[in-house]
Amino acid sequence: AHDGKRRLWLKDDFQKTYPRRSVFSHKGSHGKGLIVAGSEDMPGAAVLATRAALRAGIGLLSVSAPNSAKSIIAHHAVEAMYDPFDYRAQTADALPKQLSTYDGVAFGPGIGRAERVEDQLIKLLNNTDGVLVLDADGLFYLNQHLDKLSQRSSPTILTPHPGEMARLVGATIKDVENNRFEMARTFSKTYGVYLILKGPNTLVTAPDGQQWVNSTGNPALANGGTGDVLTGIVLAFALQHKRISAALCNAVYLHGFIADQLSQELSVQSGIVASDLTVALPEALGKLL
Ligand code: APR
Ligand code: MG
Repeated sequence: AHDGKRRLWLKDDFQKTYPRRSVFSHKGSHGKGLIVAGSEDMPGAAVLATRAALRAGIGLLSVSAPNSAKSIIAHHAVEAMYDPFDYRAQTADALPKQLSTYDGVAFGPGIGRAERVEDQLIKLLNNTDGVLVLDADGLFYLNQHLDKLSQRSSPTILTPHPGEMARLVGATIKDVENNRFEMARTFSKTYGVYLILKGPNTLVTAPDGQQWVNSTGNPALANGGTGDVLTGIVLAFALQHKRISAALCNAVYLHGFIADQLSQELSVQSGIVASDLTVALPEALGKLL
């Protein structure tokens, strides 16, 4: 299905666009990111996004999470640093002061829907001048602040599943599923955002309306936490690739490919959990290059 504006993203595209490291590179060359994620009830989502970003090669990573989740995250992702800010215990004014020192921020996995999450979202939309990735409950209040998306001058990336997309546009999940190409294109162009509409054959749409359909992944991914892993890979890849659209297509491609590799090796599509994906990432990446 080529209409000039939509095509499949394949292994060959991955190989052509994946950035190789220079021998002179250092951690500053591979992106400095912040993940704002996790809550008392959902520390695991933050762990998964953090581990995935690290495995996907991010140069430096900080995590911002409430104190109730922090020690759990730290235990499971020893390479990450911690932004001292307890974002849910304070007002939006108390967001990490050095937001501008990050090349990119990912917001959402496991943060929940407390009112403060809306303040956080507004603050991030207004004050982040690098890449901004919004996922999960980071998208929950966005339908009331869509106007702020168009005002951002740096890349904004949204990673909704069909339910989250339905809420964003005020439609039903059925509408989204029956009309996903058109709906994604209209949304991306209207608000000037990159959109990763998830599900089998995840669809990546750029602000200019170009679209790419993913060709990897299988039902082994249909369980909680795999979306959080994708968010981590998306952040890390967005900070390492030349073009954001290639970064997103590659993130989605690799995420599905890891699941394909694992389910082939084990001859099964159940029992593969999200944290397995992070462990298997480097070997799968090696097979793609
Ligand atoms: N085939 C291929 N890929 C699939 C399939 C399938 N059958 N099912 C799911 N996936 C992929 C999706 O494309 C996506 O990349 O698995 C991932 C699932 O992501 P989410 O739907 O965001 O699920 P996850 O985040 O892990 O769920 C935990 O977070 O976003 C919230 O509301 C969500 O409560 C849920 C929680
Ligand atoms: Mg999710």
